[in-house]
Amino acid sequence: MKVLSLFCICVVIVLVTRDSNAFTRNDFPEDFLFGAATSAYQWEGAVDEDGRTPSVWDTFSHSDNKGNGDIACDGYHKYKEDVKLMAEMGLEAFRFSISWSRLIPNGRGQINPKGLLFYKNLIKELRNHGVEPHVTLYHYDLPQVLEDEYGGWIDRKIIEDFTAFADVCFREFGDDVKLWTTINEANIFAIGAYSEGFLPPGHCSTNEFVNCSTGNSSTEPYLAGHNILLAHASASKLYRLKYKSKQRGSVGLSIYAYGLVPYTESKEDEIATQRAKDFFYGWLLKPVVFGDYPDEMKRILGTRLPVFSEEETELVKGSSDFLGIIHYTTVYIANIAPAPSVLPSKQEFFTDMGVDTIFIGNSSFFKWDAIPWGFEGVLEYLKQSYNNPPIYILENGLPLEHDSTLQDTPRVEYIQSYIGAMLNAIKNGSDTRGYFFWSVIDLYELLAGYKLSYGLYYVNFSDPGLKRSPKLSASWYTGFLNGTIDVAPQATTQQPSLFPGSSSL
Ligand SMILES: *[C@@H]1O[C@H](CO)[C@@H](O)[C@H](O)[C@H]1NC(C)=O
Ligand SMILES: *[C@@H]1O[C@H](CO)[C@@H](O)[C@H](O)[C@H]1NC(C)=O
Ligand SMILES: *[C@@H]1O[C@H](CO)[C@@H](O)[C@H](O)[C@H]1NC(C)=O
Ligand SMILES: *[C@@H]1O[C@H](CO)[C@@H](O)[C@H](O)[C@H]1NC(C)=O
Ligand SMILES: *[C@@H]1O[C@H](CO)[C@@H](O)[C@H](O)[C@H]1NC(C)=O
Ligand SMILES: *[C@@H]1O[C@H](CO)[C@@H](O)[C@H](O)[C@H]1NC(C)=O
Repeated sequence: MKVLSLFCICVVIVLVTRDSNAFTRNDFPEDFLFGAATSAYQWEGAVDEDGRTPSVWDTFSHSDNKGNGDIACDGYHKYKEDVKLMAEMGLEAFRFSISWSRLIPNGRGQINPKGLLFYKNLIKELRNHGVEPHVTLYHYDLPQVLEDEYGGWIDRKIIEDFTAFADVCFREFGDDVKLWTTINEANIFAIGAYSEGFLPPGHCSTNEFVNCSTGNSSTEPYLAGHNILLAHASASKLYRLKYKSKQRGSVGLSIYAYGLVPYTESKEDEIATQRAKDFFYGWLLKPVVFGDYPDEMKRILGTRLPVFSEEETELVKGSSDFLGIIHYTTVYIANIAPAPSVLPSKQEFFTDMGVDTIFIGNSSFFKWDAIPWGFEGVLEYLKQSYNNPPIYILENGLPLEHDSTLQDTPRVEYIQSYIGAMLNAIKNGSDTRGYFFWSVIDLYELLAGYKLSYGLYYVNFSDPGLKRSPKLSASWYTGFLNGTIDVAPQATTQQPSLFPGSSSL
């Protein structure tokens, strides 16, 4: 908080340019990992092959006409080709997720031998090419059978089922996988899936924007958040008891972290920004680092926020060996008092938080300017407020129209400025240990289908062979990783402006 208000004050007085030098890959620690990411449903395709059953994401994507992951990049069949291009690109690591319903089609019990073989082969292929695997266990794709049986993440039964799934993954893949993320962007998952209804399984209280067939936005996001924390912590505990001494890996939880800066210099916006940090970051990070929810959330939510028993606090506190951070952009925060008088039927995450989020510059929900100082601010804030935890950046990237061009210059500018911002934070003490660009290749996207894409490689989705072609960003990344590209210093010297943003979330 101090850092950010300091930023604002500086801007008011004079535009300060940070003294920063050109940098290369070699300015990062040698064991720092640079990679890129995908997730199972977005990359694999082959949704009904070799014993896989549907997940809630299959069901959700088939409920509208924005496309689906039935074929996606056909990574299930093309994984060798894709690992080869990752190796050629010089990627040091690859983040992917395991499809629960491919590995364990009934959600619990019997392992599917063909699913098991696919992930073993993929991991072996990565290792043979010197690419370090980083595995996410849960990336929006609960087996539909578990959703149907008991409602998935809003029921405590998920804790046992998730832990059993994690157990299979640790046991079967843990000799070759040292980095595990339990749940992908857990805060946005709980908000999008249980408060706003725009992510699978699409629960919400019906509002002016969405008709949800089921849900309760006033209570379910917090219930899901609680079960997410307990499921993560239970899997992490299992790893420590049963596998860690032998496999020597680490297990972390990940959250989506917008940069959050006050819209004006007013005291109200400053307090609102702190409240937004409590709701966005603190909700799940305070429990895993300090053992309980933020006081401000307890005060505002009352009985809607579950309470940790002593035993649960013990389980959750310290359960994350690292924090996985998913960061794309920064937003202004303006105060709207959280209204305790809001009718229960209108209560949801954003009215509870009581802030307006305002995009900066030309940014909008589906596109954003490069705001590297906002990223540096997030890393600085986590360092100062959460005891400088080890951090992996699990996603960072820029969406562009899918077919526009292989000359994705804005993406190159974005990525170099964000890597520069990350280096600034590391030089100032942040324990950030890895960076995964989103995404390795164009994918089926969660919100945009095939309209927008983030890939270093272009995929021609109209071509039956789904031909992959490198974009400018792929060769930029290759050059950066092989140490032949120096990033110019001006990329990281932008400063925040106090000009009002253009559109609201
Ligand atoms: C929700 O459903 C009702 C009744 O079918 C309809 O009138 C309304 O337009 C729908 N709202 C949205 C946002 O789709
Ligand atoms: C949501 O649950 C709360 C608490 O049980 C209840 O008061 C409220 O009416 C429910 N809201 C809806 C829209 O069902
Ligand atoms: C916003 O868009 C305008 C017009 O396309 C462009 O000139 C300007 O540089 C953009 N601003 C930022 C911060 O990218
Ligand atoms: C660098 O870290 C120190 C100590 O945490 C902090 O006081 C300072 O504000 C940080 N500098 C920047 C530019 O973030
Ligand atoms: C994509 O593939 C289709 C079918 O093979 C082809 O007609 C088209 O030219 C390709 N598009 C691009 C941009 O390569
Ligand atoms: C480094 O990467 C670039 C691609 O950007 C490539 O042209 C060059 O040959 C590579 N150099 C080495 C030494 O690998």
